[in-house]
Amino acid sequence: RSSAPLVIAIDGPSGSGKSSVSRAVATRLGLAFLDTGAMFRALTWWCLERGLDLHDEAAVAQAARELPLTMVTEPQAPGVAVDGTDVGAAIRESRISEQVSAVATNLEVRAELRRRQREIIAECRDRVGGVVAEGRDITTVVAPDADVRVLLYASEEARLRRRAKELHGHAEAEAVAATHAQVVHRDRKDSTVSSFMEAAEGVTTVDTSDLDFEQSVEAVLEVVAATVGTR
Ligand code: DC
Repeated sequence: RSSAPLVIAIDGPSGSGKSSVSRAVATRLGLAFLDTGAMFRALTWWCLERGLDLHDEAAVAQAARELPLTMVTEPQAPGVAVDGTDVGAAIRESRISEQVSAVATNLEVRAELRRRQREIIAECRDRVGGVVAEGRDITTVVAPDADVRVLLYASEEARLRRRAKELHGHAEAEAVAATHAQVVHRDRKDSTVSSFMEAAEGVTTVDTSDLDFEQSVEAVLEVVAATVGTR
């Protein structure tokens, strides 16, 4: 790929394979990788650490503005640090997954993180020639002017199956049922503030329901090639 900067925006619900696919696409194209969900998670972690009530909107918005957050955008080793503490593992704990929606539905928080996300995207564009940024509102709100905009779709059944495998190591009925609340309820809560279940105009949907990981990566790379060629 030659030197024209490339910004790729990828949205999708949880369990669509968004993060791992985006990372692989970034690696293949030599771009940076930004996991915006990790930013909401890091803020949630910090608020809990400081004993804030996540439903105190003003306090959480203030915390968002003060959050000493560092995002490492190297796709082979992405990282998230708060005040120098690596929180990469802590933000994946279920207590965070269960409470992050309260933070992600706070509109002032969204405005502040959006500002930071745009800053990181611009920085990656200038410094490493581009970025794959993934989340829920990247194609629509954060970077609607991205060169390539993809919605990674997966049927509810496929998403439950994947998340169950991730959490329980298998996708037997019981594990799928246990996952249902987490995946479906969270997406329902999150989709009250951003609509990531349907593609906006100009956004290409990639349905990964029947694709494995490698096929999903190839499908996104095909959209990239079809949109911007191999410049
Ligand atoms: O993708 P994830 O599960 O790590 O996202 C964590 C939370 O952040 C989830 O509740 C959705 C929310 N989120 C968001 O509202 N907007 C984004 N751009 C990314 C994530």
